[in-house]
Amino acid sequence: MRAVIIYNSLTGTTRTAAHRLASELRALRIEATPVAIGDVDEAAVAEVDLVVVGTWTDGLVVLGQKPAGRKRLRALPSLAGKRAVVFCTYAVDPGQTLDKLVAEVEDRGAEVIGGFAVARHNLNGDIAELVDRLTPALTA
Ligand SMILES: Cc1cc2nc3c(=O)[nH]c(=O)nc-3n(C[C@H](O)[C@H](O)[C@H](O)COP(=O)(O)O)c2cc1C
Repeated sequence: MRAVIIYNSLTGTTRTAAHRLASELRALRIEATPVAIGDVDEAAVAEVDLVVVGTWTDGLVVLGQKPAGRKRLRALPSLAGKRAVVFCTYAVDPGQTLDKLVAEVEDRGAEVIGGFAVARHNLNGDIAELVDRLTPALTA
């Protein structure tokens, strides 16, 4: 199975999460490649079975949270026919960020099979849990 992990990162946390996720997926024999959202083109998603989209939580800490980089999310190539997983990183409270991110990725045509909020202070732990929860779907 091949996966692309599309990440939108301002200060590096989501990028680190994307790379950590890639190495955990590779341990499951999934060929996973992290790509910054600005570098994604149709070729990057054409050959993959799974698209992961991760961004950071943008809001007023506990109010009005949303996925950062909506313009770029909306400019992603078509994800029609792809299975997708989304994640957001956050500092305090992601609010409705995940639901909004699911909606954005579904708008691009993907079938979202999972969504995870990843605390920046527990990056490795939350990524490990994400992978544990996804493993049955990804290795079936
Ligand atoms: C402008 C701005 C707004 C933010 N708003 C929130 C927020 O509302 N809730 C929250 O939990 N974290 C918030 N954060 C924290 C980031 O979502 C968090 O640190 C994230 O992991 C950063 O990812 P990055 O390093 O990939 O940019 C905000 C950060 C910035 C820069």
